[in-house]
Amino acid sequence: MPELQIKLYYKNVTAEIIGGEHGITDAQLKTLSEKTSPLISWLNKERKTGKTPYRDLPYSKKTFQHVKKLTAQLKDQCENLVVLGIGGSALGNIALQTALNPYMHNLDDSQRTGPRLFVFDNIDPSQLASFLDWAGDKLDKTIFNVISKSGQTAETAAQFSIIRKMLQDTLGPKALKNHIVATTDPKQGTLRKIVDDLKLQWLEVPDGVGGRFSVLSAVGLFSAAMCGIDIDSLLEGARDMDKRASVEDFYKNPAAINAAINYHCYNQGKKISIMFPYSYALKDLADWYRQLWAESLGKANDLKGGEVHIGPTPVKALGATDQHSQVQLYREGPSDKIFTFLEVKKHGRKLIMPMSSASAKDLNYLARKDMGELLNAEKKATEYALLASNRPCITIVFPQVNAYTVGQFIYLYEVTTSFAGALFGINPYDQPAVELGKEATFALMGKAGFEKLARQIKPLTALDGDFLV
Ligand code: PA5
Repeated sequence: MPELQIKLYYKNVTAEIIGGEHGITDAQLKTLSEKTSPLISWLNKERKTGKTPYRDLPYSKKTFQHVKKLTAQLKDQCENLVVLGIGGSALGNIALQTALNPYMHNLDDSQRTGPRLFVFDNIDPSQLASFLDWAGDKLDKTIFNVISKSGQTAETAAQFSIIRKMLQDTLGPKALKNHIVATTDPKQGTLRKIVDDLKLQWLEVPDGVGGRFSVLSAVGLFSAAMCGIDIDSLLEGARDMDKRASVEDFYKNPAAINAAINYHCYNQGKKISIMFPYSYALKDLADWYRQLWAESLGKANDLKGGEVHIGPTPVKALGATDQHSQVQLYREGPSDKIFTFLEVKKHGRKLIMPMSSASAKDLNYLARKDMGELLNAEKKATEYALLASNRPCITIVFPQVNAYTVGQFIYLYEVTTSFAGALFGINPYDQPAVELGKEATFALMGKAGFEKLARQIKPLTALDGDFLV
């Protein structure tokens, strides 16, 4: 479907547009091409030897069929679907729902083709308790999808313990099988053991796929399919982008170019990467991207073990909202940012603005125009203003927001991340720095084996009255 291909536009990072001090010259682009081209074939080879299993997720018939089968089995009895998970086990689900279902999906029955969706990716007791107050008498029509590869994650384990007891107390122990779907490791982990003990329904988190690369596995597909999202088209979009992101000609490979430009800008001091969707639907994809880049590219050591402390800081902004909160800084603050706009050619709905009253004739420039036209004009206006301040701008152009284009986008950014990791010379697939915080939580909550760590933490984190003002 060439007319529905998303495209990456990068002229506005070039020296021709923003000058030689901030922009990329032809010679620099050539150097980037020479550095990145061998990485394309290297990544293609790595993929063939099974080192990047996320690349093959859109082709997994087994997952697709399992998700479809379970969805067909459960959809009719389900009015509310609740995802329990955090990080890579939640952000993709949220992003797909915001992108591909109507804004009022949960509130207006006529706008939804599946259950209401609630994703709990936090452990704020006020938030969860408020939900449980509402859901308490609806449990017979509610399904909980607990997602955790390890089953060790304190946040998800805490949520799940409460839900499990509530289901048992309200509907009886036999109900667990009909009201819980666990998405977890097929062989090991704490959640795996619970699934086996209680004989719960379950879906697989594939081996070797980290949470932030897992949205196109059962992790993201189940809640999407249950809520009426066309997962066939989502995966087709990803497969089509796979072809483009595997092309060994640098100038035809959007993932390679994207990574190379971001890498270059980072090395020129533009260490902050702003993703700026001009579409409410795409706003949570920017959140998903924030995790993808932060956990994948923020690393202390390179592949040779050298200390590098590297990684762009990904930031989310939303057009037009953040024009009125961030753009002052973006134009006049330090020139330490690269901007990636997400622009939608044809928005999902039209809203025509009427003529103004006689007393407000100066607003008539808006009259009889579509609100989407205004949103897109504001994107171009902001881009123009940033270019006037010599700030580099990429645009990802979406012909429309639909499952096919969102599938392309997800795959584009996953592969871009692999290229960026290779350019920075780091491992983008681990997250060693996240572990200490997880272990410290275990220690503070009294988990056996973490007593020594608890003793180290307490003096450092206890409030010292001398410094409390
Ligand atoms: O991207 C990642 O690997 C993390 O964000 C994990 O998804 C997150 O920590 C949750 O882990 P788990 O699925 O084991 O509960």
